[in-house]
Amino acid sequence: MGAWLLHRLSGLFLVLYLVFHINGLRALSDPSEFEVYITVFRSPLFKIAEFMLLIVAAFHAFNGMRILIQDMGFRSDRQRVLFYGVLALTIIVVLAGGVPIIFPYFIAPLLP
Ligand code: HEM
Repeated sequence: MGAWLLHRLSGLFLVLYLVFHINGLRALSDPSEFEVYITVFRSPLFKIAEFMLLIVAAFHAFNGMRILIQDMGFRSDRQRVLFYGVLALTIIVVLAGGVPIIFPYFIAPLLP
């Protein structure tokens, strides 16, 4: 039930992000609007949003693959274990891809 709900919520979040993203791409043709977007993209708050997006996208992708594998007939009664595998893969991707995003903004300033 939890996995089912998380999958729907993450899917919904990705659709909302897609709308924002396509709107952002439109700004490429307008120099003044482009400047506004670039300023937003470089803000620390946006870096947190990017980090969250990576969590959501990685979770949705890995959990979606778990569901697709089941739907293809490779059924297993150890779904809880597979779900933990999804969470582990999500954490690995977020550490590998997300930490470099927030590092210059939130981690580097704390280093001696
Ligand atoms: C690697 C990429 C992706 C995979 C493997 C994947 C897989 C899946 C699967 C298998 C489902 C159906 C779950 C079920 O029937 O229980 C699903 C649902 C959904 N996906 Fe994805 N997806 C991916 C990317 C995306 C992206 C990029 C978006 C949005 C832009 C998205 C939006 C959604 C939404 C809104 C649902 C919910 C549909 C519902 O409520 O039944 N997905 N995804």
